[in-house]
Amino acid sequence: MKLQKVKKYTRIEEVSQQEIDLLVSRVNNCSWRQTFHIQPVSGLLNDPNGFCFYAGEYHLFYQWHPLGPFHGLKYWYHTKSKDLVNWENVGIAIEPNSYFDSHGVYSGSAIEHDGKLYLFYTGNTRDEKLDRHPHQCIAVMDNEGTILKLNESVFDHVPEGYTEHFRDPKVWKEGEQFYAVIGAQTTDQTGCVGLLSSPDLFEWKFEGEVQTQLGDFGFMWECPDYFVLGDQGVLILSPQGVLPEGDRYQNIYQAGYVLGEEIDLQKKEMTHGNFEELDRGFDFYAPQTMEDPNGRRILVGWMGLPEVEYPSDVNGWAHCLTVPRELTVRNGKLRQTPIPELESLRKTKAEVSGFITNEVKTYDKFSGAAYELVCEFERQDAAIYGVEFRASGEEKTVIQYDATQEKVILDRTASGEEVAIAYGTERKYQLDGEKIKFHLFVDSSSVEIFVNDGEAVFTSRIFPSAESKEIRFFATNGSVNFKAVKWDY
Ligand code: FRU
Repeated sequence: MKLQKVKKYTRIEEVSQQEIDLLVSRVNNCSWRQTFHIQPVSGLLNDPNGFCFYAGEYHLFYQWHPLGPFHGLKYWYHTKSKDLVNWENVGIAIEPNSYFDSHGVYSGSAIEHDGKLYLFYTGNTRDEKLDRHPHQCIAVMDNEGTILKLNESVFDHVPEGYTEHFRDPKVWKEGEQFYAVIGAQTTDQTGCVGLLSSPDLFEWKFEGEVQTQLGDFGFMWECPDYFVLGDQGVLILSPQGVLPEGDRYQNIYQAGYVLGEEIDLQKKEMTHGNFEELDRGFDFYAPQTMEDPNGRRILVGWMGLPEVEYPSDVNGWAHCLTVPRELTVRNGKLRQTPIPELESLRKTKAEVSGFITNEVKTYDKFSGAAYELVCEFERQDAAIYGVEFRASGEEKTVIQYDATQEKVILDRTASGEEVAIAYGTERKYQLDGEKIKFHLFVDSSSVEIFVNDGEAVFTSRIFPSAESKEIRFFATNGSVNFKAVKWDY
């Protein structure tokens, strides 16, 4: 079968090795292949799944459609790491080859129990009319990495009052009981989170919906995650159908959290503050967290969005995951900071400092396509100041502070190949920027910018030409004092 003719539900073994090799070589020839991010060997990656530490290693699975850059028959792909930085591709973890997951091994999570790793996921099935029937399923991995599915699903229906959009269980243990939050949609088409419970991970009961104060907030909530951080409950969700509001909710779909009291498991209720977006950039969705052996809460997100075409599609692949970030609570909000382990990627260091006044400045050694850059600015009287990167000629991606608007602005208008321009080419975040720190992780086709130590994060794909490597510091209508440090990766 020719790959060009691959249909949505084609299985990997229906395609010849030669065709797959051709696809992989097309992928490998793409100049946007990442250098330090998790990306698929071919086809499409989406949600991170089953993120955990088990048997001495970190495991991170993801949603994978191997045969092309579209949302077809999904597999779980397995990667593992000893340090959260260098990841080894292990291979396919769970295949869609059972009656309960025939049309896709959808998202889910992992938990260790009795020395084994339990992978709790949604099996997507479709009937002759292509109507969905989700099952919740368990596969068990041993410490040698062998994964076996149970013979049947552990929850084979949708509770009354909810539609077939019932998926993505995130499991945790409290006392002797296992619980899972699950993404759901009520029959009146509003998004919500369901609560499942189990004494043993095999028998699951639907407890009901977790009552929140979000009300009518989109038509579907995907990939919920729940955990306690310090003494606060955190519920992460990816709602679909939330409309733009000022600078917020600019992407097709959102990913964010509410912070508050722990979920009352008896009342199935959470008291919490406002919904906050986790990211202010263009490409971030369906994140998942885990607690590492040191008690850190670590998050990885999908650096992409559903229903959006990306320039690398023509090269036979799409998407990657973000770098791991540690979550902490500060001033009633979640902060994300890149994990310190990433420092092991640092190679040659360059430093510069000084004033920039009504000009654009470049410096020796300040250029590249994959690097870490920390820039600290202290405003004198400049109206706008910041950094242009992955630049050459007219091409550039810009992170800047606009003192008149009092906003940080990420501008990808001139970043290279266009992405989702119907949703705009700028993202903004209100902030007092007399002093500001931009911490950038730049890779061949992405940037993650931590502003003021993670007060806001802008995560975005960019598709510049390979030659666009300049870094330019600038200030308009006045001057700014700055220092910058860069490490090649
Ligand atoms: C989120 C999502 C999940 C689903 C998976 C399928 O991106 O739609 O709800 O389980 O992707 O790949």
